[in-house]
Amino acid sequence: EAAEKGGYEHFMLKEIHDQPKAVRDTFGTHISEDMSQALFSELNWEASDVDSIKNILIVACGTAYHAGLVTKKYIESLARIPVNVEIASEYRYSNPLTDSSTLCIVISQSGETSDTLAALKEAKRLGARSLAITNVVGSSISREADQTVYTWAGPEISVASTKAYTTQLVAGLLFAVYLGQLNGKLDAALAKDILIGIHELPELIHTIFEVDEDMKAFAKHYGFKTDAFFLGRSIDYAVAMEGALKLKEISYIHAEAYAGGELKHGTLALIEEGVPVIALATQEDVFDKMISNIREVKAREAVVIGIGMKGDEEIAKHVDHTIYIPRANKFIAPILAVVPLQLLAYYAAITRGADVDKPRNLAKSVTVE
Ligand code: G6P
Repeated sequence: EAAEKGGYEHFMLKEIHDQPKAVRDTFGTHISEDMSQALFSELNWEASDVDSIKNILIVACGTAYHAGLVTKKYIESLARIPVNVEIASEYRYSNPLTDSSTLCIVISQSGETSDTLAALKEAKRLGARSLAITNVVGSSISREADQTVYTWAGPEISVASTKAYTTQLVAGLLFAVYLGQLNGKLDAALAKDILIGIHELPELIHTIFEVDEDMKAFAKHYGFKTDAFFLGRSIDYAVAMEGALKLKEISYIHAEAYAGGELKHGTLALIEEGVPVIALATQEDVFDKMISNIREVKAREAVVIGIGMKGDEEIAKHVDHTIYIPRANKFIAPILAVVPLQLLAYYAAITRGADVDKPRNLAKSVTVE
């Protein structure tokens, strides 16, 4: 087992560090040589394939569900097709409005999650066309779906998903560009910017590992708190949800993610002196709004760790500690911003002496309902 961990103390840390390679293997041959086109030879769609899709349904569980929330933003922004994201166990009993104009995308690392597989079968029964995004070749979900796009994260052993999530985001973003190029809704310059950004991701993720010591220090400092809050707006809100899940599942610290603008409708009542708040502010269009939310929690004496983009130094004036991710296209940013959150959860679990790779009560693949 030590050899499989590649010199790391835990699979989770190894898998966090596997991400540059996992991402590179996942975009693989999906970007044209001149970086202008997203390619999916395994799908081989034409414009008419996209035109027949009136709505998209994404179903998944856990971390894959969070990848679905980000993918919704990608598809709606780049291909302008409406997307619903549903938790698989909710969808299957919801008497859904799926029909033949629906494309159902299921996202699953293992390709074996029982609720996701059942949701896929239900969507197909109602006439939907289906596409699986999964990490396991020949898995039940890949066999059930009409078509499959693989992520190439390699085996993920740690129960807490890391590299599967980032590769799901890469696959989702590439697919959104593909749809937008096929239906003509995506500006060529933006497509190129995104594809170049995906191509640069492995190197950019490497540079984020430099925050390792900072995250270790924060975890030591705040690891024994009972609660933590993650705030974000727009795509950052979905990343906040994934950050909160990571912290909960392995460190057992109660964590909640909130949309910045929603704070005042409840959660603000829980903010008091010393409560850790991790505030994501990577999205330029809502940056000023996030700064106002940060000021609201600071005014209640929360301890704020801000995650911003290099060059947006304004954030440092309002928070206690700042972590900068490299400057990148707004659609690339979430794939970078989650890495410090993974490290924070990992070190918080270590600080608390928890079993990082095998958290209590949880399983890697849930094949029962
Ligand atoms: C379990 C795992 C999670 C995972 C979820 C969905 O709960 O602990 O890490 O996100 O299942 O798994 P899947 O294999 O379908 O992505």
